[in-house]
Amino acid sequence: MQRVEMPDEVWVDLLARRNGHNSDGNGGNGPNHRLYGPLVRRERPFVLAQVGQSLDGRVATPAGDARDVSGSGGIAHLHRCRALMDAVIVGVGTIVSDDPSLSVRAVTGPSPVRVVIDCNGRMPMGAKFLSDGGERIIVIQADDVDVRPANAEIIRLPRTERGLDVADILQALRQRELRSVLVEGGARTVGRFLDADAVDRLHVAISPMIIGSGPTGILLPPVHRLTDARRPKVDVYDMGTDILFDCDFRANGG
Ligand SMILES: NC(=O)c1ccc[n+]([C@@H]2O[C@H](COP(=O)([O-])OP(=O)(O)OC[C@H]3O[C@@H](n4cnc5c(N)ncnc54)[C@H](OP(=O)(O)O)[C@@H]3O)[C@@H](O)[C@H]2O)c1
Repeated sequence: MQRVEMPDEVWVDLLARRNGHNSDGNGGNGPNHRLYGPLVRRERPFVLAQVGQSLDGRVATPAGDARDVSGSGGIAHLHRCRALMDAVIVGVGTIVSDDPSLSVRAVTGPSPVRVVIDCNGRMPMGAKFLSDGGERIIVIQADDVDVRPANAEIIRLPRTERGLDVADILQALRQRELRSVLVEGGARTVGRFLDADAVDRLHVAISPMIIGSGPTGILLPPVHRLTDARRPKVDVYDMGTDILFDCDFRANGG
């Protein structure tokens, strides 16, 4: 297991690479560059999904308390990922249950464009992030929906039998120069991207806490045999308070 500490000069180097600057680099072969380097390569589009969960795989209590599942190391890691990516995506369920801001606060760095998949136009108009004056907001709806939240750009995509096609979503974002995206949650949204084979890396941060019951972080159609379970190549990192599994779905076919 590799310990991740983030000296300022390494973080500055990663941010420079994110912005397309070649820098001499510091610690180019260390755990920071192994973990975060793939996020800042800009040669091709990149999709990172993430989950912060307890030891028993929960992301919230049954009553919906989802704050502080991750410790400070896991939160700093999530905010680093936000800062290094062009856009962060959540499903409307996460806006309804958590009312998040999706900005970068725990580290220095730019906030990503905020994207919500809201196929049916059910996002609460009072959602905090709509009026916080932060980064640009894009709401993705089906083309038969006519709801227009304030302060958000709307992308309308064809409704399919299963909602919105993940490939259509990614293409629409790439057309707007949003080529690296962090799929932050929740379970249905991460599941949809995994099921579409659209995820390059999945980061699962495990915090040493047992919640016992409550929602899990990834929802996928059932498999009947464990031989059908997805088995990405995994590297493990010690984030201080949390253990991070960096799952590479492109290394060995997943
Ligand atoms: N710990 C973490 O890392 C983390 C991060 C984020 C969220 N969460 C937790 O996750 C939970 C929410 O997860 P969730 O699964 O209920 O909701 P979600 O994934 O946030 O949102 C799901 C909804 O988004 C829409 N959606 C997403 N992808 C779509 C697609 N391809 N096509 C059409 N619609 C799409 C659908 O809306 P419609 O229902 O309108 O069709 C779907 O039901 C909360 O408990 C939250 O705290 C945890």
